[in-house]
This record gives sequence, structure tokens and C-alpha cells, in this order.
Amino acid sequence: MALKGLENNDLKLIIFGGKGGVGKTSCALATALELSKKFKTLIISTDPAHSVSDCLEQQIGFKVVKVDHTTNLSAIEIVADEALSEFKKEHLAEFRKLFETSTNLDNQDIDEMLTLSIPGIDEVMSFKAIVDFIEEGYYEKYVVDTAPTGHALRLIASPKLVDDWIKVATRMRWKYRYMITSFSGSYQPDEVDNLLLSLKKTVKRIENILRDNDKCEFIPVCIPEKMAMAETNRLLTDLAKSEIVPRQIIVNNVMVSDGCDFCATRLAGQLPYLLEIKRTFSNLNLVELPMFAEEVKGLKTLHKLKSFLFNETSPLYI
Ligand SMILES: Nc1ncnc2c1ncn2[C@@H]1O[C@H](COP(=O)(O)OP(=O)(O)O)[C@@H](O)[C@H]1O
Ligand SMILES: [Mg+2]
Repeated sequence: MALKGLENNDLKLIIFGGKGGVGKTSCALATALELSKKFKTLIISTDPAHSVSDCLEQQIGFKVVKVDHTTNLSAIEIVADEALSEFKKEHLAEFRKLFETSTNLDNQDIDEMLTLSIPGIDEVMSFKAIVDFIEEGYYEKYVVDTAPTGHALRLIASPKLVDDWIKVATRMRWKYRYMITSFSGSYQPDEVDNLLLSLKKTVKRIENILRDNDKCEFIPVCIPEKMAMAETNRLLTDLAKSEIVPRQIIVNNVMVSDGCDFCATRLAGQLPYLLEIKRTFSNLNLVELPMFAEEVKGLKTLHKLKSFLFNETSPLYI
């Protein structure tokens, strides 16, 4: 089976997720390469391990660059820490004012509060960068390579965490607002209110795109092994809690046996999990990828992987 529906014009954001080492980066890059045949495509990595640079054998950083030897493909590695520290630097005065006006904390306490992070804010800032790109609309497809499962889930849970924080901050502000209104009869929203409102809008923009099954698709990648199976089950359960329902799943590293002892033994080890995948995910489009003798590195092997992902071939085992 091949990956389906990714050319649909409404579909903008394609996110790959799964356990470490199952092939997310390889599959995200191969998909971006295929899409770039017809669409202006941006591959975005949110993995601090810089694996997109490694796999493309080209230095990519926190700035969009064209991928060498391709026509319509660009890449960026979003560095969450940098995105967050830019945001903090820009809004330090507003955060200080929020605490000064809404709490009884003294200056030292406020300084300490300012060093603490808002839960989920770094992921929200990474996602904000992605949503900004999508809304700018220069590219037609945005393919996101995430760090291992926990990270993808944190990314998806982050808007809710930040939203909870905004609710508390807004409640703190109400008291201040009430006080000002009682003393002076009126209240003009200030830069702190504007910051909370703009954060709220950012969270909404992220949630709107994540929850829109026409605009955004999450593709889990797994391999036929015990630990990866358990993690894939957890991933799908957690995604469902966020109302994200994958349509297809990639099963990577499937052993194609030519009968040699090593291959036959590996395959025999994989078969129970392949059957389990078939049973458990029967409602999804299952896309099998063979295990190559060589690692997936550079455009040549990515093109090879791409042909398995997108050309309709007969099933390997499931
Ligand atoms: N089908 C495959 N056959 C052989 N090697 C693979 C295959 N898919 C991925 N790899 C290799 O496995 C390692 C992990 O792949 P990668 O795409 O970086 O996974 P992840 O992003 O999930 O950590 C890399 O060295 C990659 O080259
Ligand atoms: Mg990776």
C-alpha cells in the first residue's frame, strides 16, 4: 500500500511522529521530496537532534534554506529554545507588569517567577513558527519531522497547557482591572492585556489547524517490534484524546527475506507484530517499508524510500 491523500489541496500540514529511531525523519523527508514534485514544500524539523541536516547531508538551521539538488523543496530546523528566548526577550516588560500589578510578590519573587517557564510555552512557540509559515502561505505543503513520541505529544498537548496558564493570568488581571475601575471609573486595556490576548489567539490558531482533519494529518511511524508497538498504541490513544485521528500508518524496517538464516530469523521475529499491526490498525491505511541494507542518508536513498512510500506495490506481509 502507498501513502494516500497527501496531494489533496486542502491538506497543508503533515506531521510525522513515533518512537525514536523508527524512521520519522527518513519518511518525512521522502514525503517532502515526493510532494515537492508538484507543490512548493517546506520540511520543518522540531527535533533538537538536527537529524534533517544529517539525513540530507546539508547544514540546515533556524532559517529557511533551499534543499540542494531539488527544485521546490526548502527546509528549516526550528530551535524551540531560541524561539522561546526571542519571545521572552520581546515580552519581558509585559510579564513583569503582569506580576507587579496582579500579585503581592516583591521584586525578588518576580525576578524568580520570570525565570520560570510557562508549561508548554516552548512547544507553542515552535508551533507558532509553523502556523506563521502556513498563514504566510508561501509554501503549499508543510511537512513536520518531530522528535520522539513524547515530544510529538507534548507538541500537541502544549496549546491546552498554555491556555490553562492564560486563564489563570487573565483571572489575576480581572482583580487588577476591578480595582482600577473602582478607583478611576474606567479601564483601558494595556500591553499586558494585549499580550494575553495575542497569546490566546496564537493558541487558537494552533488548535484550529491541529484539529482540522482536512488541513492537518498526523502520520505515525512504527516498526514491527514489541517496544515500538507499545509506544504506537500509546501514541494513538493520546492522539485520540486530542481528537486527532490518523488515516494511515507507516510500518518501517520490514524484513524482506531471501531465505538466508539471518533474514528468515529476523522475519520470524517480526511476523507476530506484523499480524498484530494488521489486527489492531485494520481501520488505517497500512504502508509497509522494507528494511534496506544501507542506511537512509542523502537524496539517493531518500528517493528509493520515496518510491516505496508512494508507488502502489503489492503488500510485503500485511
Ligand atoms: N527502511 C530503512 N532501512 C534501513 N535503514 C533505515 C530505514 N529507515 C530508517 N533507517 C535508518 O534508521 C535510522 C533511524 O531513522 P530516522 O529516520 O532517523 O528515525 P527517527 O527520525 O524516527 O529517529 C537512520 O540511521 C536511518 O538511516
Ligand atoms: Mg528523527
